[in-house]
Formats: sequence, C-alpha cells, structure tokens
Amino acid sequence: MPVITNIDDLKAIYRRRVPKMFYDYAEAGSWTEQTFRENSTDFDKIRLRQRVAVDMTNRSTVAEMAGERVAMPVALAPVGLLGMQHADGEIAAARAAERFGVPFTLSTMSICSIEDVAENTTKPFWFQLYTMTDADFVRRLMERARDAGCKTLVITLDLQMIGQRHKDLKNGLSAPPKPTLMGWLDLATRWSWGLGMLGTKRRAFGNIVGHVQGLDDPSRLYEWTAKQFDHSLDWKKVAKLIEMWDGKVILKGILDPEDARMAVKVGADAIVVSNHGGRQIDGALSSIRMLQPILDAVGGEIEVHLDGGIRSGQDVLKALAMGADGTYIGRAYVYGLGANGEQGVISALEVIHKELDTNIALCGRRKVSELDRDVLLIPEDFEGRWQ
Ligand code: GLV
Repeated sequence: MPVITNIDDLKAIYRRRVPKMFYDYAEAGSWTEQTFRENSTDFDKIRLRQRVAVDMTNRSTVAEMAGERVAMPVALAPVGLLGMQHADGEIAAARAAERFGVPFTLSTMSICSIEDVAENTTKPFWFQLYTMTDADFVRRLMERARDAGCKTLVITLDLQMIGQRHKDLKNGLSAPPKPTLMGWLDLATRWSWGLGMLGTKRRAFGNIVGHVQGLDDPSRLYEWTAKQFDHSLDWKKVAKLIEMWDGKVILKGILDPEDARMAVKVGADAIVVSNHGGRQIDGALSSIRMLQPILDAVGGEIEVHLDGGIRSGQDVLKALAMGADGTYIGRAYVYGLGANGEQGVISALEVIHKELDTNIALCGRRKVSELDRDVLLIPEDFEGRWQ
C-alpha cells in the first residue's frame, strides 16, 4: 500500500480496485446530485480560528454517543451492499470499528447477515432498520438484532421510496451482480476484488434471503425496495417501533426542525441530521446547514448527530463545534474498505482521527468536549434566509 495521508488517497485506490457498478453505487447522489455535492462543499465555507500559545498536552478525542464511550465521536454509518465493495465487507468494517473503538452500524440491506457480523465480532454493534410492509419480517429483524446483542437501533426515516441514482439503473445494479457485457469486461479486470468474492459465500442480501416467505428476487435493490418498503410509515408507527425496542433508538434522516420536534415527542434517544448522503431528496439543503435550526428546535433534550459530506477530521471538528453530539462517516470508510478491507477502514479512521486531534489543538483546545462555536468562523449568511 502507498502512504495514505488523506481520505482521497483511499478513494483513488478504491476506484481502481472495485467494479464500476459498486463504485458508482457509493459515489452518487440522486438526480442532479446538488444535495450530495453541497453536503461537502458547505463544510468548506466554515473556517477555523487559529489560536496559539495554548498548552496542548493531555489531549483527548474520547466522547460518548448514545450512552456509549467512543474513541472519537465518529460512528460508521449504515451503508447497503458493503459486502459487494469488498468480500465480507460488513464483517471487515465491524471488526475495524471494534478495534478502533467507534460504533459500527449494520444496514438492513447488508450482504453479511446480522448473525454473520455477531459471530465475527465481540462487542455489540448498532443495527439500522428499514421498515417494510411485512410487519412480521420487521418484528423478526428486530428480534434477530436483539438476539445478536445489538442494544442500539437506528431507524431510517428518509427512504420509504428510493431516490433515483441514474448510474445504478444504467449499470443494472444488483447483488450478486448481474452485469451487462461492459459490466463483465469491467469485473474481469478487478482481480483482487474477484478473488475475494470467489472466497466467500456471502454475495446476496444476508438479512433477507432465507428470511422472507415467498420471496421474489431481492437482488435488484430498486425493484425490491419499491415493492417491500413501507410507504405508509408515519409517526404513529415510528412511536410503536420505539416502544417495541428495549434499548436506545436513534432516528436517522431528520432534516427539518419540525421533524426533529416530532422525534423528541415520540421518545427517540437521538436523531441523525441527515439527507441520506444526498441519495434521496435532491435539492434539500446540506446536513451541516440544517444543523443549527435543528439544534435550536431540539433544545438539548436529546442527542443530535450528523452525517453527510464528512471527508476529514476538520469536517468532524466543524460539526461538533457547531453543536453536534456525534457524527457518522459513510463514503469515507467505504473508500478504505474497497481499497484494503478491514485495514483500509482502520486507515480511514486513523486519517480522520489524526486530522481531528491535530486541528483541535491548532484551534487552541484539547478535548472534543471543549469545542464550541468560538473555534469557528461561520459566514453570516451560512444558514441562509429561506422562505
Ligand atoms: C440505501 O440505503 C441506499 O442509499 O442505497
């Protein structure tokens, strides 16, 4: 492996190693990709205040997320199809998170099953739930997660219908892959990826195949989600799911202050300010821009986390200094996973940790808990005036 100094280094290797179909799946937003782009570019508009002559000894990034002690407040977000980015990708990412001391969130749409991940890790991971029309399947998924030792449930609220990502449709995205002729040519050139895939049996949606009665082909994500995801999900149902879970519940996909209040009202322990990495609604404001209005609405009653656009420790620092209690990375660790499996995820976490730690110090602080808006320079019109 070449020397890795930033997340883009991992992305370059990832792009060479992983079939285009799966690179495109991760590296896309919906429709025009405006929200996907602005999730990142809006972080660039916030600047840091350089402070000097402050004792930098005894620094720490240790914090808490959803009642758990974490080496830094950066969890691994739920990402579908990780096991297509790298053989047994969910297991690799979960092990890396465990080694590093940050939470791993397993997606409902994972390749390795809940049980696979539990058997290959020693600490509880978080489980992300999509709600399906088959209420029995949802109940069983929650039971399986509980039996596997999961204590924290992350319920995603912003994907009742899937936002269109043009390339997925053109590539015929599926797991296992059913490529076009060009797709086969592409697969044939990704040797290390292909060898890994030949060495595992886990090549389909592990939480679904074998667990749904009368299952028609779930390999094509778009068709399957269109049929199975619960279009009738509402706050009443969310409240019921929270009641059913004996542990912490994090509601993911909140991008509006009114929805944030609803999340508090139904009894969530935390929310994730998120637009699904710009993969769902296109044209919404970035997560970081919506953070302050949502923090104001929540008023400190529950934890507020943020995902979307984070590619560096500086981005993490900015979100925390603005008031987020925790952050998540998605693509940033997928790049590492595709580049070099478990060790690649560790590399991504190390890069972000080093950037976070060093820049906290260069801002004249020593601990993540000491970060506040005072370390930031935020343009006056950052949140903007929208009617
Ligand atoms: C699923 O979560 C996706 O964004 O594809």
